[in-house]
Amino acid sequence: MFKVLFNSKKIQSVGHQTFLNFRAYSTTKKGRLDGKVALITGGADGVGKESSLLFAKEGAKVLVVDLNEIKGKEVVSQIKANGGEASFFRADVSKAADVKEMVEAAEKTFGKLNILFNNAGIMISEDDDSVNTTEEVWDKTMNVNLKGVFLGCKFGIPALKRAGGGTIINTASFVALMGAATPQIAYTASKGGVLALTRELAIIHARQNIRVNALCPGPLRTELLDKFLNTDEKRNRRLVHLPMGRFGYANEIANGALFLASDESSYVTANTFLVDGGLTSSYVTPI
Ligand SMILES: NC(=O)c1ccc[n+]([C@@H]2O[C@H](COP(=O)([O-])OP(=O)(O)OC[C@H]3O[C@@H](n4cnc5c(N)ncnc54)[C@H](O)[C@@H]3O)[C@@H](O)[C@H]2O)c1
Repeated sequence: MFKVLFNSKKIQSVGHQTFLNFRAYSTTKKGRLDGKVALITGGADGVGKESSLLFAKEGAKVLVVDLNEIKGKEVVSQIKANGGEASFFRADVSKAADVKEMVEAAEKTFGKLNILFNNAGIMISEDDDSVNTTEEVWDKTMNVNLKGVFLGCKFGIPALKRAGGGTIINTASFVALMGAATPQIAYTASKGGVLALTRELAIIHARQNIRVNALCPGPLRTELLDKFLNTDEKRNRRLVHLPMGRFGYANEIANGALFLASDESSYVTANTFLVDGGLTSSYVTPI
């Protein structure tokens, strides 16, 4: 029985995958993303910047995509100074024409696309509850955080197929899973949408060698939250709920993204991957 199964094409391909995974534990010093091409949106700062640096260090060729050309090009220079390969492409992820061109740029520059990290996101300080949030804040947040991820998948999935498969990581947030009395209703709704969209795409493409996962960071010390939590009072209102008693760092999220990007997560898809310091499992925190 085993022999018959082992001879089938399906099992051989699983065997090949196992071999790929085995490489990750071998003692030869190979990068965890050797030979892969990654596109990272929001790559100029925070989680995207740390992921760009880490993915390149692990052997990926990285297309850093952002609105911020100066900071994006600095990330590329840093990667090149460390011996890695990277290029910058300026795109607004909420604009279909830009997103189409960014995917084309990855294929044109590096020959293919294996890893798509839809990470760019915004949180607008006027975002509030449903009564006080303006339509403008709602639309802008949705356009970047949710439509941006949709467009990334719309134009990225055909490119992954051309490469024989690949992996997509969509950045959501712990706020998609918990309610808060310190509301940002548009942001929260946009991240809930990212979770639902990710789950469905993962199932649609599960037999096409394409994995799709949502990465849910806890609250982080990056520009996005620092701008918003600009007083001790605001910070402490949240810190008391964090089991570890601290905010996370962008590089801690990049490590989670690396796992989802690599072949080590070959049986992980449609996942809500939490890197939140235990926040979403917590009731009473330690003193
Ligand atoms: N910081 C947190 O506490 C936190 C928590 C949970 C989830 N997240 C999510 O993690 C992701 C990264 O957040 P971060 O904290 O690194 O933010 P950040 O503000 O440090 O970096 C975001 C980057 O995205 C870029 N960007 C913004 N709008 C863009 C657009 N329309 N097109 C292209 N690039 C654009 C910015 O220029 C910036 O470089 C976001 O999706 C965010 O919602 C953050």
